Amino acid sequence: MMNGYRAELPAELRAGVVADLPELDLIADPILREQAIDAWALALSQSSFARIRDIPGEAIPGKLVLKQGGQDLHLRGVTRLALGTVDYFAAAFPEAEIDRDIVVAGGLCHDVGKAFECDPDNLARWRADGSRVGRPSLRHPIYGAHLCLLAGLPEAVAHIAACHSPEGDNVRRSLECVVIHEADVAWWKIAAAAGLVRPETLTDEFARLFDQRAERRA
Ligand SMILES: [Fe+2]
Ligand SMILES: [Fe+2]
Repeated sequence: MMNGYRAELPAELRAGVVADLPELDLIADPILREQAIDAWALALSQSSFARIRDIPGEAIPGKLVLKQGGQDLHLRGVTRLALGTVDYFAAAFPEAEIDRDIVVAGGLCHDVGKAFECDPDNLARWRADGSRVGRPSLRHPIYGAHLCLLAGLPEAVAHIAACHSPEGDNVRRSLECVVIHEADVAWWKIAAAAGLVRPETLTDEFARLFDQRAERRA
């Protein structure tokens, strides 16, 4: 399904994806790795962003905005946290089978739809008249699942894109999706509590749960 897209995706978009996500190297299956790169290159090709690091480091537009850094930091962080979980369970409970490749690909691709949901052109369009197609028309999990399927990624990774978020509360998540969902929530919660997120962009839920640690003075 993906062959046609790979031919059309500009090489510099794919090179940027590889540069922004070094954890792609942790995907053992070379086909899965190429599909993950394709999904992101496809996402960027349909957006006004050239690189993943150019996408604002935010949970959704305007909410939980990182003081510094882009979306690459979040994707890499969630993947690393999730891998820590997988490695712990593999060592402590060898009988617990968690698919490491699906966790890495899912971690790196779970927010692939943000190239769409966080695109300033889309935001301006939706703000101008949300009555036409909705605001947003498709949240990043839904658009992300669409991109994953277009890129030929396995159903298990498309499921993680679709269901890592509250959208997944409507279904029974896969084990690997549970791992990414928990890592995603933990990453935002810890980043916010550590004061890495702009205070005015905290969600009401997080503001109820903790005070942000003040910035260290140099
Ligand atoms: Fe997300
Ligand atoms: Fe996320």
